[in-house]
Amino acid sequence: MRFSKTPHASGLARRRVAAGATAAVLGLGAGVVGFATAASAAEPTTLTGIILGVGANESQRIVTWYSTADTAQEVEVAPTAALVNGEFPANAATFDASGAANIATSGGFNRHATISSLREHTSYSYRVGAQDGWSPTYSFKTQDFEGDYDFLFYGDPQIGSSGNVAKDQAGWQDTLDVSLAANPDAELLVSGGDQVESANTESQWNAFLAPDKLRQYPWAATIGNHDVGGKAYEQHLYTPNTDRSGPLYANGNPASNTSGGDYWYIYKDTLFVDLNSNSYSTTSGGGGDEAHIKYVTDVINQHGADAKWTVLVYHHAIYSPADHAQDGDNKVRRVDFPTAFSKLGVDLVLQGHDHSYSRSYLVKNGEKANPDEQPGAADVFAGPGGVLYVTGNSSSGSKYYDITEPAKDEATSGAGNGPDPLNPDNYWYNSVQNQEHVRSYVKVQVRSDKLVVENLRSGTCDAPNAAVELGKVDWCHNTTADQPVGSVVDKVTVHPYHGDGQAIQVSVPNAAPGEFGWTIDGYNGLVDLGTAVDHDAAYFGATGQINPIVVSDTRRSLAPWSISASAGDFRDADQTFSGAYLGWTPQVLQAGAGAQANGAVPSAYDDHGQGLSVSRGLGWAQQGHDKGTAKLGADLDLKIPGNVQKGDYRTTLTITALSS
Ligand SMILES: [Fe+2]
Repeated sequence: MRFSKTPHASGLARRRVAAGATAAVLGLGAGVVGFATAASAAEPTTLTGIILGVGANESQRIVTWYSTADTAQEVEVAPTAALVNGEFPANAATFDASGAANIATSGGFNRHATISSLREHTSYSYRVGAQDGWSPTYSFKTQDFEGDYDFLFYGDPQIGSSGNVAKDQAGWQDTLDVSLAANPDAELLVSGGDQVESANTESQWNAFLAPDKLRQYPWAATIGNHDVGGKAYEQHLYTPNTDRSGPLYANGNPASNTSGGDYWYIYKDTLFVDLNSNSYSTTSGGGGDEAHIKYVTDVINQHGADAKWTVLVYHHAIYSPADHAQDGDNKVRRVDFPTAFSKLGVDLVLQGHDHSYSRSYLVKNGEKANPDEQPGAADVFAGPGGVLYVTGNSSSGSKYYDITEPAKDEATSGAGNGPDPLNPDNYWYNSVQNQEHVRSYVKVQVRSDKLVVENLRSGTCDAPNAAVELGKVDWCHNTTADQPVGSVVDKVTVHPYHGDGQAIQVSVPNAAPGEFGWTIDGYNGLVDLGTAVDHDAAYFGATGQINPIVVSDTRRSLAPWSISASAGDFRDADQTFSGAYLGWTPQVLQAGAGAQANGAVPSAYDDHGQGLSVSRGLGWAQQGHDKGTAKLGADLDLKIPGNVQKGDYRTTLTITALSS
């Protein structure tokens, strides 16, 4: 008798088997696919504006798109490694889309779907549509779900604000390309608001959505004052955990032709809370700043303990250096927000709207936390309540605002726009102010005990730089030689406050998954049952033992396992008898790995059954068993009818392991 080993089988979960042949795809341009619907072969559906969005946590993504047809659609996702020649595997996951009809000026329908249960360190491919027609395939990757990471922040792309959509798009495309070429492992693209100039102008949205980077890295949308006046923002950019109640809309009416709502998500130990700062005044019908403070307070109270950092994002910068610095609405917010943010332990606030770069001193309760903090300090140490406020410059080059002078007779706290005593050209709250009329973006490095915030140039004065090209601003001095793309405008390291106690952190890596396996113990020699003994001319009998099987299971899952075996026909040249005449009595020879022996199986000679001719259990362990190693054996009992011809018969015992 000899043993052979069959492949180890394991369970494979899958959500749905894709069926049917994929229809021929007619490409109509970037991100567009046409296909014939079942209802009307004459009118192809087009899928446009596909964008990858942030999910509720690092294991999710949300995909949003437009469709010309009101049909059932989905996102199909699979690890890129599972695609063969670009074809998705049959067990690719699918996530059903939902959505609604767009407003009339947008036309068509919107769809979104949440991709969940992503795994770490995996490249995924995805496409949207349905079996009768899919979009092109796009890809994204996940990284470690714990630990350090970088994200990028983009101020006001505001496509169309220069008056030339194509030039604005070119600058926007270039900033995404430059920033992600320099930071290919950045994990989030965070918006400062004002994606477009005119809320419902779809040609501007198409230009904003044109860069493929927006289908490869998740965009965390923020609503700006230029996005708010219509539904296109909500139609294009679906966000997780979004509170769309009336108080969080500027006019108090979510059903009106306006976008709004506040939302939050946790990405790798950072709680992000994103506010619709267009809603700040109760006189317009919304809940005003009070509603946002209630929202932020509730979210931080409920989820703050699940994160190590808290980052707020909203459009209207309350501490900024340019045209909007002294706006009346910001003076209101500058009174309403800072004390609440300090008390809630917010670490960083990211803002837009003023199309210029600034980073504040650490601000506590609406005042400079430490009067001695020096302008441009490279390291700042937050005491209790210290919050850093950053304003992003234009990321597209569509519009720049110039630095304005502080109001000399105003206060240096609260709503005041007075000068910085240490640097009277600056506003009291700003450590750094910058406007060079070149595109830039903000990089944030999230580390275990610091946030490193940098403002980096993504362009020079050269094209693409719409506002400069079109003479919207009358100076620009940056050159590739002196301030090249990628050079640093500002860099600060924020060291957080840990309270009066000492914070201790330890990083625990993934445990090795462990392995399940089995081998035949020692030299796998012939199991020789010797010469069968004639029992009163009734049957021949022989006994022996199988070569022991060593089972080792060190898996973290403590999942069940089993070993079984079956014997083929005994054969000598053209003479055979059935393996059913072989029976056995399994035993655990050496305990471990939760091993238990299966029951004895008699020879078919005894019970007219099937003996070992069918698969029979040798040993097994249940869920939650001990890790370790076991040795399984079995006594063999062969009884064959007395009419079997003389010969040296052999069979093969085929051993199969199952584990989940
Ligand atoms: Fe803007």
